[in-house]
This record gives sequence, C-alpha cells and structure tokens, in this order.
Amino acid sequence: MPGTPHANPAGTDPLFIGLMSGTSTDGVDGVIARFRGQGGTGARLQTLAHVFAPMPEELRQTLLALNLAGHNELHMGTLAANALARLQASVVHQLLDQTGCMPREITAVGSHGQTVRHRPAEFDGTGYTCQLNNGALLAELCGIDVVCDFRSRDVAAGGQGAPLVPACHAELFALADAPRAVLNLGGIGNLSVLPARNDAAGRVTGFDCGPANALMDHWCQQHLGQPFDRGGAWAASGTVNAALLEQLLSEPFLAQRPPKSTGRDLFNVAWLTRQLASHGDVAPVDVQATLTEFTARAACDALTQHSLPGTRDLLVCGGGALNDHLMRRLAALLPGWRVAATDSAGVPAMQVEAVAFAWLARAFCQRDAGNRAEVTGARGPRVLGALYPA
Ligand SMILES: Nc1ncnc2c1ncn2[C@@H]1O[C@H](COP(=O)(O)OP(=O)(O)O)[C@@H](O)[C@H]1O
Ligand SMILES: [Mg+2]
Repeated sequence: MPGTPHANPAGTDPLFIGLMSGTSTDGVDGVIARFRGQGGTGARLQTLAHVFAPMPEELRQTLLALNLAGHNELHMGTLAANALARLQASVVHQLLDQTGCMPREITAVGSHGQTVRHRPAEFDGTGYTCQLNNGALLAELCGIDVVCDFRSRDVAAGGQGAPLVPACHAELFALADAPRAVLNLGGIGNLSVLPARNDAAGRVTGFDCGPANALMDHWCQQHLGQPFDRGGAWAASGTVNAALLEQLLSEPFLAQRPPKSTGRDLFNVAWLTRQLASHGDVAPVDVQATLTEFTARAACDALTQHSLPGTRDLLVCGGGALNDHLMRRLAALLPGWRVAATDSAGVPAMQVEAVAFAWLARAFCQRDAGNRAEVTGARGPRVLGALYPA
C-alpha cells in the first residue's frame, strides 16, 4: 500500500526525510530521521544526517518576487517549483550519500515547498495557502514516496494551516513536570506552548508571533550587502530607537488573538517602508538594532500573554537561535527564565523544522492527524499532505 511504512532492513523504526525551505528563503534544510514512540512519553528522535543547500540567488529573487502580484505568475511559479524540486532532490541525494541509505530504505520524504502566498480564511471564507513545489518531479528524481502540500487540508477545514510544528515540538521537547515554550525564529517567528507531560488537562497551543529574520535580512542586505546580520553584531553596535520600536509594536497583527498566522503577505518590504516613512532620520544601524529588538519584544510579549502559568523555560530554534545578540535580548526580556537554543535539548536549532516535516510525513503515512485544531483553528484533526508515490 502506498505510503505505508515498511520495515527497513535493520528491522528498526522506519526512516523519513524532512525538507524545509522557510520564509527566509535562505535555502533548503534536509534531515534523515527516525522516531520511536509517540504521545505521552514523547517521540525519541534519531537524526542520521543534516544537509543544507543554499538557495541559488536567481531562484531566491524569483521566489521573493512571486510573493507579490506580478506578471505571468503561473509560468514563473511553475518553473520556480521545478527548480526548487531539483534543489530538494540534490539535498536528498546528499543525505543518501552521507548515510549510505538506499532510496527504498526511506519510507517517505516530507517536503514543505516554498510559501509564496498565505491567505487563509480570506476572500470566500476559505482562502488559500500556496507552497510552490513539484512533488511529482521530486518523486521522479529521488525514487522515494513524496508527501507535500501539508497546509492546504487544514485551511480547507477552516484552519490557518499554520503553524504545523507545535505537535512535533510537543513530542520532542515537552518536559515531564513543567510547562515549556518553543520559539522558532525563521523568516517569521512562531511559538509553541507546551504543557507538562503529566498535566492531563494541558493543551498544546501555538501561533505566529510576528516577523523575525525576513525584515532583518532585508535591511542587512540593503545596507551592508550581506544576506544576514551574523551573530547580530551589526544590530548590537546600534541603538534602539524608542519611537520607531513603539510604532512597530503597534502593528495590529501582534495584538490579534490566536489562532493566527502571517508571512511576507504582511511583513514585507512595503510594510517596512511604511513604518520607516516617518522615521527617516534613524541611522541604518539603529534601524537594524530596532528591528532586532522588535523581534525579541514581539516574541516576549506573546509569551507573557499566552504561555502557561509557571513557564520559565524557553527553547529557541531556527536561524534566529544563531543570532547571539537576539538571544541575549530574549534572555534580558525574560528575567528568571532559562532561555537556550534547542541544541541544549538534543536537536540543533537549524534542524528542528526539517525534523518536523519528517515527523509530518510519518504522521501522513500512519494516517494520523498532523495538525492540532487548538493551534490552527481547524474544525478538527486532519491527516495533512498529498502523496506522490515513488
Ligand atoms: N550565524 C547567524 N547569525 C545571525 N542570523 C543567522 C545566522 N545563521 C542564520 N541566521 C538567520 O537565520 C535565517 C535562516 O533561518 P531559518 O530557520 O532557516 O529560517 P526559515 O525557516 O525562514 O528558512 C537566515 O536568513 C538568517 O537571517
Ligand atoms: Mg531556512
């Protein structure tokens, strides 16, 4: 039966590949992972390999352009999906080479694709979410079952289609007897709120909490000609502009009640330009300092408002965990909390989201729900994804 996990030759748990390319558009992260157990005791994760393939600049520019209405989008978008599938296939082949695994030993690839529009619940009330991808080509190039389009079913069921990672975060990171929060800082930031495992009444929640690297990367590229602010060193050398920070924090999305999700549809260059229009005198380095502080404040305000009572433990993943200045600001804004990258809990920060899509592929193959209705606002649990058999 297609998509059914088969026993691999070693007789151990089945292997899955997860592929993630997030709103930062920095590239494709891929992992080979296996999971043992699930539910109350949590899934034990073993990651066999991690590969990152940077996004070629031309493809990156095309994908960023496709986030906005433009000319001949269908043609450009479909060709970009082909190029992305080839990049993803190169990651899969590197993962297989590094581990010596054969394609038939991998039960399925879970491929997120590249979000270029995210408009759940709008227009006709259903809205849509669009991840460019070509599962057919990826299956053809890899000879492995491919599961993709994870978000659409949740949106069809009235949900936000995002974030999808809290369920996996809960299995990997929930503590036995204390609540915890996980903050993923990709292009956009999202929070997972995890009750203690021994809290039978506790519910996993989560939501997008604001922009993260997308705006900081743009500003850094424009003023330093570098794709990101390594370690947050540039931001750390500037001064936060209080008036600009207050204006950024007044963005209505931040005060909206969950379930909620966002993307470059809102937090884009035009948004930033509008915010800066009345702050033309702020030096570029101080804008970077303020954007970094904005990222930290938006996340901490959301935590203060929505984390479970008694939470004092924050794990951070995504590229933002490598921004030392941002990590120091998070710790400063959360006195008494333990703030650490997910590396401290056994999963390197840059692998977590790819692991989550391996986990979602596994959920699909088991025909388990991938969403949490309490997170996305969907009408109920749903099996997420569409299968392209090898
Ligand atoms: N050493 C670093 N210092 C600061 N920021 C970093 C560093 N490494 C990565 N980043 C940031 O992380 C981003 C990528 O994070 P990622 O979690 O892959 O986001 P996404 O899921 O949106 O692709 C980069 O665009 C960059 O902004
Ligand atoms: Mg990325």
